Amino acid sequence: MRLRNIKGVDSIIEKSKYIVKSPEKNKGKWKEVFSNENEIHIEIGMGKGNFIINMAKNNPNINFIGIEMYDSVIVRAVQKLENEDLLNLKLVKMDARLIEDVFDKEVDLIYLNFSDPWPKNRNAKRRLTHKNFLDKYENIFKGKKIIFQKTDNIHLFEFSIESLSEYGYKLKNISLDLHNSDFSNNIMTEYEEKFKNIGVRINRLEAYKD
Ligand SMILES: C[S@@+](CC[C@H](N)C(=O)[O-])C[C@H]1O[C@@H](n2cnc3c(N)ncnc32)[C@H](O)[C@@H]1O
Repeated sequence: MRLRNIKGVDSIIEKSKYIVKSPEKNKGKWKEVFSNENEIHIEIGMGKGNFIINMAKNNPNINFIGIEMYDSVIVRAVQKLENEDLLNLKLVKMDARLIEDVFDKEVDLIYLNFSDPWPKNRNAKRRLTHKNFLDKYENIFKGKKIIFQKTDNIHLFEFSIESLSEYGYKLKNISLDLHNSDFSNNIMTEYEEKFKNIGVRINRLEAYKD
C-alpha cells in the first residue's frame, strides 16, 4: 500500500516521539526503550495503525511496536497519535526483510494483519508467512513463538496454514468467518473495516511453536 505523499512527511516523522529513528541501535535491548520487562508484541505491515494503536490503549501492560515500510503510510499512524500519550507504543519504519537487524530474541508475539498476498507464485517468497520469513522470526522471538494472522485472502490463508504447519507451528482457533465467530474483543484494522463493510469474510488463525 503506497499513498499519495503528504506535505511535510519527513518533518512529521522526524518530530514524532513514537517513531524510533535508528531502530537497529535497540537490537537486543528494546525493553530499555520501554523501561520495563513487559512482553513485546509487534505488528508487521501495520498500515495506518488503527490496530496497534488501539491494542496499545487497551493493553497498557504489553509493549507494542508497529512496523511499516512506507513513509506515506506510517505518517497516517503518526497523525492519529497527535493527541495521545501512549508509553507502551513505538513505530518503526523499515522493510521487514531486515527484521533481524532490529530485534534479537525479545519478541513475544507477531501480528500479521491483511499482509500483501503476493498472488503470483514467483513472488511467494515475499509473503510474510513464507519459510524465509519464518526463519527470520526464529531469531527475534524470545521463547515460545506466537503468530496471529488475519486476512481476507483465502489463498494467502491456505498458504500460511501450510507454511506454518510444515515449519512446526501448531495452529489453533482457526476461523474462516471471524466476524460471525465467537471471538471476542476483536480490534479491527483499516483494511478489515473496509472488507467487513462490503461483506467479505475474514480469516484468522493463531500459530504456536516451542
Ligand atoms: C494490505 S496493507 C494492510 C495494512 C494494515 N495491516 C491493515 O490491515 O489495515 C499491508 C501493509 O504492509 C506493508 N508491508 C508490506 N510488506 C512489508 C514489509 N516487508 N515490511 C514492512 N511493511 C510491509 C505495506 O506497506 C502495507 O502498508
